[in-house]
Amino acid sequence: MKAPKKLYIKTYGCQMNVYDSERMADAITSTGYDLVEKPDDADMILLNTCHIREKAAEKIYSELGRYRKFKDAKPDLKIGVAGCVAQAEGEEIIHRQPMVDLVVGPQAYHRLPEMLAKVDAGKRAIDTDFPIEDKFDHLPRGPKARRAPSAFLTVQEGCDKFCAFCVVPYTRGSEVSRPPQKLLAEARDLVERGVAEINLLGQNVNAYLADDWSLARLIREMAKIDGLERIRFTTSHPADMGDDLIAAHGDVEKLMPYLHLPVQSGSDKILKRMNRKHTAADYLKILDKIRAVRPDIALSGDFIVGFPEEEESDFQATLELCEQVRYAMAYSFKYSVRPGTPAANRGLVDADIANDRLQRLQKLLTGHQMDFQQSMVGKTLPVLLEKPARDPGQLVGKSPYLQAVHCQADKSLIGKIVNIKVTRSERNSLVGDLIS
Ligand code: 5AD
Ligand code: SF4
Repeated sequence: MKAPKKLYIKTYGCQMNVYDSERMADAITSTGYDLVEKPDDADMILLNTCHIREKAAEKIYSELGRYRKFKDAKPDLKIGVAGCVAQAEGEEIIHRQPMVDLVVGPQAYHRLPEMLAKVDAGKRAIDTDFPIEDKFDHLPRGPKARRAPSAFLTVQEGCDKFCAFCVVPYTRGSEVSRPPQKLLAEARDLVERGVAEINLLGQNVNAYLADDWSLARLIREMAKIDGLERIRFTTSHPADMGDDLIAAHGDVEKLMPYLHLPVQSGSDKILKRMNRKHTAADYLKILDKIRAVRPDIALSGDFIVGFPEEEESDFQATLELCEQVRYAMAYSFKYSVRPGTPAANRGLVDADIANDRLQRLQKLLTGHQMDFQQSMVGKTLPVLLEKPARDPGQLVGKSPYLQAVHCQADKSLIGKIVNIKVTRSERNSLVGDLIS
């Protein structure tokens, strides 16, 4: 029998790429590859890429440059680019890096087996179509291997919101939701494979709508699966935060008290220029409603500073909004021009000013994150233990509020929800003692 070839996949960007990489790994390994952890002696290197900010996209080209020596040493090594850079740049990737053998956009993964056959025959394969069939339908499933306790499940893809700064509607296409029965079957399958927590993913997950099912209905049905202990979802848009989803936060016990709800800016002028379709007050009103049904909810957000025409007073409005919300976690970015998006031709804020604003915002957000974590010290939290931590004898898991929690515990407890009394807050995690 021929020894299996080696496949190395490197994933950049969002959690949806993590899910896609798992599914691609399943598909490619079913054609005679083994997944390996390092690129060194791989027969195929696949980069699953992110195009959201310029830095993320440029990183791919420098990474490809690094792999040139691998190909020099092993000429039949195949190199592939998947994900949003593949979608956005298509053939351009091969012009810039002629050693690339395969370019596959995020909607064309089901064609990977045919594309690989072409590549194996020494040809190039490029596919960045947006076909109508579900890309996950035709991807072969792997054998029923055990999975880590927490898994992603993509339920929705694409975005129809067209925020003026964002490439997603162009790289991922318009909103498509996967059929609920298929998702419930996939969730049951994950639970059989040892999964206790499912994180439902979508670029605009709360716009989920399939066969008249809303995301709230999908969550309620999923919560009925025995053995599934925790449900999360991300990322949501404020305009799609329906009352049924808010209510689910109040009465679906398995739905965790954590919500990632990006606002991007606290200034109505900037929100309008960003085409966000909501004001700061609309956003705060949604948070009030959620807090009314789930007072302990941990909130998380995304921010962009230095968006064209952002003045100091607009930035102050962002700081004020943060003071009001007090996020448990938040991600902030300096505006990055994305060619082809509506904001691409607008005048830029001075780079020093934008950098300074980013630092000021991050300082405030980090302080709030620290306060939130500190408020957990002394409390006993149910933690889903996920894997060994770096320190010997320690495991790491997640609190309901998505904080990483470390504790001394036996490996046999991986996959279990245990009570941990939090003793200390560190920069990005909590530390505690196992109670039961
Ligand atoms: N520049 C900076 N940040 C961006 N994001 C999306 N597009 C851009 C851009 N052009 C951020 C938004 C989004 C997160 C995933 O990335 O905050 O919510
Ligand atoms: Fe991009 Fe806006 Fe859609 Fe989010 S909602 S993916 S930021 S266009």
